[in-house]
Parts: sequence; structure tokens; C-alpha cells
Amino acid sequence: MASEREVRARLQRAGQEHLLRFCAELAPGPRAALLAELAPLEPEALREHCLRAAAACAQPSGPQPDLAARLQPLPLERVGSVSRVDPDTRRSWEQEGFRQIALNKVAVLLLAGGQGTRLGVTYPKGMYRVGLPSQKTLYQLQAERMRVEQLARERHGTRCTVPWYIMTSEFTLGPTAEFFKEHDFFHLDPANVVMFEQRLLPAVSFDGRAILERKDKVAMAPDGNGGLYRALADHQILEDMERRGVEFVHVYCVDNILVRLADPVFIGFCVLRGADCGAKVVEKASPEEPVGVVCQVDGVAQVVEYSEISPEVARLRTPDGRLLYSAGNICNHFFTRGFLQTVTREFEPFLEPHVAVKKVPYVDEEGTLVKPLEPNGIKMEKFVFDVLRFAKNFVAFEVLREDEFSPLKNADTADRDTPTTARRALLTQHYRWALQAGAHFLDEEGAWLPEPPGLSPDEDPPAVCEVSPLVSYSGEGLEVYLQGRGFQSPLVLNEDLARVLQPQES
Ligand code: UD1
Repeated sequence: MASEREVRARLQRAGQEHLLRFCAELAPGPRAALLAELAPLEPEALREHCLRAAAACAQPSGPQPDLAARLQPLPLERVGSVSRVDPDTRRSWEQEGFRQIALNKVAVLLLAGGQGTRLGVTYPKGMYRVGLPSQKTLYQLQAERMRVEQLARERHGTRCTVPWYIMTSEFTLGPTAEFFKEHDFFHLDPANVVMFEQRLLPAVSFDGRAILERKDKVAMAPDGNGGLYRALADHQILEDMERRGVEFVHVYCVDNILVRLADPVFIGFCVLRGADCGAKVVEKASPEEPVGVVCQVDGVAQVVEYSEISPEVARLRTPDGRLLYSAGNICNHFFTRGFLQTVTREFEPFLEPHVAVKKVPYVDEEGTLVKPLEPNGIKMEKFVFDVLRFAKNFVAFEVLREDEFSPLKNADTADRDTPTTARRALLTQHYRWALQAGAHFLDEEGAWLPEPPGLSPDEDPPAVCEVSPLVSYSGEGLEVYLQGRGFQSPLVLNEDLARVLQPQES
């Protein structure tokens, strides 16, 4: 372990010696913890980080003034769409996706290192229950959607595996690993669930000093979901993928309750188009919706984050009334392993961090803990999509919001992206699947409930129906259980009920 003298000398080189100002008064345990936290910080990198944060913060924040002139929507030939394509083409994409899964060439990678501050829980977001009848958490829903392996197996008659890589941070690794163990990895083989940790960076004051949040602790934050690329290199994840024969990676964020892991349609589309990098998008619901926009800047594909686009540009419309910048990024990306390799080896240092100005609790000169009322600190984050501009063949893939996107960002006090809206989105989708499979729902007296002419995203469906991903991945194969049958609400179609409903073989 590094001595206090060594750490002090390194911090001096970085201009951050103040981080040790309470060291002498600390008990041996906390002192050792502080030194252990500081020892790995590279002096030059720390100096650079703090200077850069202060300099970036001194720049005017918000939308870039000249951005509007440099923006263009993506050219149509770069965009595929599930809804604007004929069924045969869609089927060919899906077939190709399943073929690649059956060949063991597909992995999924979950970005789960965020702190979920907006939702206001102290545990990882993936452990959140939105109040489904089954009480499943986001992690469980995702684990069960690994059923896609089973579907590929049934089509191709081969055993196959989709490894699941989970990027965590110091805040989420412990509880996530514990949670998976407690739940027996949701019956997945633990050898195929690979957790790794992204780096943390110190939060920095406006004058370029790293912040102490306690006398014995630096205020650290994960380095953004674009910390992925360093973390891949730190933990030799691409080498692990290579050993397993993985060629294509579906990267997604933790909070979308409708996410389709290793979606064969998306993967097949990207593979058949020869893409090295892809992004799933949905049509933006309104100019104000807080989603990044997939577009071109100076002719190069990029995502412009919602905080970086001006309201005037966000409101621009095409002559037919659609938003000009309508391709809403849902944080679902396709990468070839080769592309990820090039990014980690060559381009990662060129990714510009984004600045977030936040309220960061700190200890003042007297050692008193202060909870600031105004933002006082800078967090620097890289974004996962900032690598799009390095792609040789980028494609976007538009999917339907009601099928694939309902993120959990906020607590129920907000009016969008809450536990209520996420639960409703999933239950509405499953109610729709049930009706399409020929089920009908009954009221308490056993009379048929009328089917509404349409389903509003703002209202609960007339009956509660939840389908386990272990029974159906995206609504397929439900007729055998539901066709022509009446059910009282709530219907929870899990594996046990499916066994009961399945026609007996004679
Ligand atoms: C993200 C997208 C935004 C998109 C929206 C859709 C980014 C940078 N922004 O925004 O374009 O429209 O989702 O829902 O991708 N994470 C880490 N490590 C970190 C920070 C975050 O793994 O250091 C993970 C989170 O756990 C989460 C994902 O990245 O799974 C998205 O992060 P979040 O901060 O929630 O991004 P949004 O602002 O919602």
C-alpha cells in the first residue's frame, strides 16, 4: 500500500494536496481508506481532469449557438424502420438475427453504472420494482428475456448462449452482484453473466479543486456511460468476447422496461446492412421530450443530447408536420466487436467529456459537512454514443415506442418516465398481445369486458395482463395458451399457468 508521503507527493504534482488536509486527525482505518482511494489517481491525469473541468465549466453552458447551422437529419438511406417495411423484409432481418444468435456470435451489454439520482433510490435501478403483479424487478425482466437464446435454439436446433456483460460502478457493483446471487442468477449460468466496473472520477469545484465529501473521502462519480470504452479495456472484456466467438454486441441502458435484449430484428438489420455501429430510435413524442436526437453534425452521424439542443431547433418541423429532428435515441446500440476494439485502442482518448454542474456535498475548511443549496461542483462524463462519429457504416433503426420504449427515470411525483408510466406501458403491451392471441377478458360476473377501440398511453388498460418473458419474448406463441379463452383480471401468464393451459398431447 502507498504511504502517506508517496500519496502526498503525487497529489502535489497534481495540484490537489488539499485532499489530505484532514489526514493527520483521522483514525488509522479512515486514513488508510482515504490513502487507498487516492493512491491509484495518476497525478498527470488528475491535474488534467481538474483543469479541464474548471475550463469547461467556464465556457457558456447549454445549447451550442452555432450547432443549428451544422445539424441535419440522418439521410433516409441510413435509417431502417420496423413499421415502414414489408413483412418479408422484416422477417429476413429477424431470421438473420436469430442465425447470428444461434452461431453464438451475439452478446448483450448492460450499462448499469449510473447512480439513478432522479429516481431517488439508494440501490441500483435494476433492482427496482415498478409494481407489476409478479413483483418482478427490472433486472429479473431482463434476465428472463434471455429466453431469446431458447427461441434461437428452437429455430436452429443448436445450443447457444448470449453472454450478458454488465457494466457497474463502485455504487452498483456490490448490490448488483449480491442481488444476482440471492436470486440464483435468475437461472442463468453465472459463467455467462460477466460483471465489471467502470472508473470513477473526482467531482471538481469551479476553481479546479477535487472535492472532499468527508474528511476521509473524495467526492467521486462514475465517468459516464461512455466510461464503457475504458472499462472494456481495463477488464479485458473484448478479449473475453473474442474467446467466446462474439462478433456483435447489443448495448442497452438499465431503465427501459420494454427493452428487447439481443433483439434479433435489430441485430439482423444491422448485420445485413454491414453496419459497424447502430442505434435504435423512436419517434420523439414532443420537442421537449428529454431524449438525445440521432442526426448528423457537419455531415457525420452523432447523437445530440437533449441538454445540448436549443428549444427552437427541437421544435423545427418538416412540411408534413413531423419533427425535423425526430429520431429519439433510446440508448440501445449495436456494435461489432471489431469496432469496439478500434474505439478502445485508438479513439477513446478523443472522446470529449461532457460537463454536468451538480450540487456536491463537501466538508469546508473547518471540517464541517455542507449540503450546498446551489450547484458547486463539476462532474465530467463521457457518453456511450460519442463514438458514433468514428463509425464507417452507421445505421439507425426506428422502432415503435409502444413496443420498445418506456424508461424509468423519475419518481412518481413527476409526470413522465415514472414507475407508473413504465408499469402501464408493459401491462398495456401485454394486454394487446393477449387480445391479438385471441384472449378475452371477463368482469367479476363473468361477462365479457368490451375491448376499447384504442389504448391510450395515459390510461391503464381495461384488464391487467402480465406475460412472463419466459413464456413470450415479444408477443409470439401466445395463441396456444390464450386463443378463444376468457380470463378474469389480473391474468399473470407465467410458466406454471402456461403448463396448465397448454393443450395436452394425446
Ligand atoms: C440516456 C441517453 C439519452 C437517451 C436516454 C433514453 C446517454 C448519455 N444519454 O439519457 O440520449 O435519450 O437515455 O432513455 O446515453 N450509466 C452508466 N454509467 C454512468 C452513467 C450512466 O452505466 O456513469 C448508465 C445508466 O445506469 C443507464 C444509462 O447509462 O443505464 C443511461 O444513463 P442516464 O444517465 O440515465 O442517461 P439519460 O440522461 O437518461
